[in-house]
Amino acid sequence: MRIEGQAAVLNEAGREVEVEEVTVDDPGPGEVRVKLAASGVCHTDLTVKNLLGNGMAFPIVLGHEGAGYVEALGEGVTHLAVGDPVVLAYRAPCGQCPACQRGDPRHCYMALRPGQRIQRKRDGALCSQVLRCGTFSTYTVVHSKAAIKMPKEMPLDKACLIACGVVTGVGAAMNTTPVYAGARVAVIGCGGVGLSVIQGAKLQHARQIIAVDVSENKLKQALEFGATHTVNASAGDPVALVRALTEDGWDGGVEFAFEATGIPKCTEQAIKMLSYGGTATTIGFPAAEDAVTLNLGDMSTGVYWNKAGLRVSHCGDALPSHDFPLLAQLYLDGKLKLDEMVTTTITLNDVNEAFEAMHHGDVLRSVILF
Ligand SMILES: NC(=O)c1ccc[n+]([C@@H]2O[C@H](COP(=O)([O-])OP(=O)(O)OC[C@H]3O[C@@H](n4cnc5c(N)ncnc54)[C@H](O)[C@@H]3O)[C@@H](O)[C@H]2O)c1
Ligand SMILES: [Zn+2]
Ligand SMILES: [Zn+2]
Repeated sequence: MRIEGQAAVLNEAGREVEVEEVTVDDPGPGEVRVKLAASGVCHTDLTVKNLLGNGMAFPIVLGHEGAGYVEALGEGVTHLAVGDPVVLAYRAPCGQCPACQRGDPRHCYMALRPGQRIQRKRDGALCSQVLRCGTFSTYTVVHSKAAIKMPKEMPLDKACLIACGVVTGVGAAMNTTPVYAGARVAVIGCGGVGLSVIQGAKLQHARQIIAVDVSENKLKQALEFGATHTVNASAGDPVALVRALTEDGWDGGVEFAFEATGIPKCTEQAIKMLSYGGTATTIGFPAAEDAVTLNLGDMSTGVYWNKAGLRVSHCGDALPSHDFPLLAQLYLDGKLKLDEMVTTTITLNDVNEAFEAMHHGDVLRSVILF
């Protein structure tokens, strides 16, 4: 039966987020309808707004860091039951693409998506769902393989963070570019994603974890999350400052540098602060025209002479069915900080304020409670 709810919607390019009455259809075959309990507000939601929808058709239901309870099962869904607590995965592997076919689902080319099931009630307009989720909504419909069951004892207002920020950051350091024990690591940008890279690097037993940000408050938080050193990028050239902190008689630099800002210049900095043979990983969401310049020939920081590598992380190259329960267990075992990441809890009506707060240094994650 079609049900009614509310969602935070981008109705048109350039408009603020507006709370709309919506109707949500029954799940189709292989899908589930989920009653949201909580959703984190990730910078990517703001980026979609700033990029005027980023190619998606309006109206758009924002949100992709959600957790809730299975409320209805589509035809053929047997691995979940109504009432199961779940975290929603925006990159559940498709099983069809060349990567999935060769047995490498972490590098799936695309992800399972549901049919369009959410409509704006006042005119019946079909809504797009950001990253196949649309979690700024009291109800949403996702592919059943994108609903990952959580242990009963896992609090959903913390579990939601696993869906994007945490799995992206921890996964970047564990899956995309596995940090080895004893390595030196720099993390540029210490929001929800960057702090999770720091946690991932710590879990991988990095020797030195240098947090780089422009906000003193974020740097203070980074130390709580496992950073061993901090660099304020507004106080000087972060490349020189990171190299100075890693001086070892071999020109210094880190074996792994992660960019988690979405600013192209920070990817260039990540590449330039590598030690010989190091790898930079870019995570931030780019605009179509964003570009970086790679110097090849500089003897100390050029990509050729420094034998630098560059990788891109999408959602921490996660395999949600494996990684989400693992991250939940790490939290339950006291080895992964999630409580400390939730700086403020809000309602659906406060999404614009949560976006605004991203520009100030004091909020790590705003979490919508339903
Ligand atoms: N690739 C993926 O799968 C994926 C997943 C999630 C998020 N993202 C993207 O990752 C980025 C980070 O997301 P978030 O939610 O953590 O964002 P956020 O806004 O919470 O954090 C960004 C941080 O970067 C810092 N910063 C800004 N300018 C800086 C500079 N010049 N040098 C150093 N630090 C600077 C800010 O102070 C802030 O702490 C965004 O671009 C987001 O869209 C990508
Ligand atoms: Zn996100
Ligand atoms: Zn695939």
